Amino acid sequence: MNREKRIPVIAGNWKMNCDRVKAKELICQLKETITNPVCGVVLCVPFTDLETAVELTKNTCLKVGAQNCHWAASGAFTGEISAGMLAEMGVEYVVLGHSERRQYFGETDETVNQRLRAALDAGLKPILCVGEVLSQREQGVTEEVVRQQVKIALGGVTKEEMENIIIAYEPVWAIGTGKTATAQQAEEVCGQIRGAVAQLYGQETAQALVVQYGGSMKPENAKELLSMENVDGGLIGGAALKAADFTAITEAANQ
Ligand code: 13P
Repeated sequence: MNREKRIPVIAGNWKMNCDRVKAKELICQLKETITNPVCGVVLCVPFTDLETAVELTKNTCLKVGAQNCHWAASGAFTGEISAGMLAEMGVEYVVLGHSERRQYFGETDETVNQRLRAALDAGLKPILCVGEVLSQREQGVTEEVVRQQVKIALGGVTKEEMENIIIAYEPVWAIGTGKTATAQQAEEVCGQIRGAVAQLYGQETAQALVVQYGGSMKPENAKELLSMENVDGGLIGGAALKAADFTAITEAANQ
C-alpha cells in the first residue's frame, strides 16, 4: 500500500463551541457545501450537539465524532460519558488524548490508552492525538516524545484494530496560536509516527494508517500540508467553525 491508496480524513474538532442552534446552522451549511468529497469528513462536536449532529448527517457523507470518552463501560464516574453510550447514539469517531485534555484535565498516556481500549471495544474509531510542547521541540526530543505517546496509547491494540485508528499529529505550540508547523516539520513527524507504528505492527499496517496534521490548519496552508507524502488529512480547530473554511480544507484534501 502507498500514499495513493490512503483516503485522507478531514476532521473538525469543534472543542467547546456551538450551542445547538449554532451547531444546526453549521451542519446545515456543511451539508450544502460538502457533497461528494474524496476524503472522509468527520465533525467532532460537543456531547450536547451529538444527537443533533447524528440526526442531521444521516444519509450524508458527513460522519460524527465525540471529543472524549471514559474507559469504563458504566459506573460511579460523575460527569463522564462511556464509549458505549456514544456508539449507541450513532457516533462513529472519538478524539482521544487531545493536548487540551492532557494540559487541563490530567490526561496521561496511560489514561489515553485505557480510553482508546474502551473506544475500540465499543466499536468507535479513535482519533488519537499526539504532539510535543514547544520546550520539547526546542530540546530536540520531539521524536522521542511522540513515539512514546504513540506506543503507550496503542498498548494492547491488535494489528486488526489498527484499521480503525487514526493518529493526529498536533504540535501543541501550533494549536490555536496561528503558528503552523511547516509542511516539512509536519511531514517529518507524521513520518516518524508511521515509523513507530511500523515497528509495532509492520510496514503494511503502517502504510495503511491515516496520519493527520492538526494545528492552525486553514484554507491558506492546507494544500501544502496535505500534499506531503505522510500527511493524510487534518484535525481542524478554529477553521472548522466556519463553513467556508472547513469546506475549502476538504476541497484541498480532494486534490
Ligand atoms: P486549531 O486549528 O484551532 O489550531 O486547533 C487544532 C486542534 O487542536 C484540533 O484538534
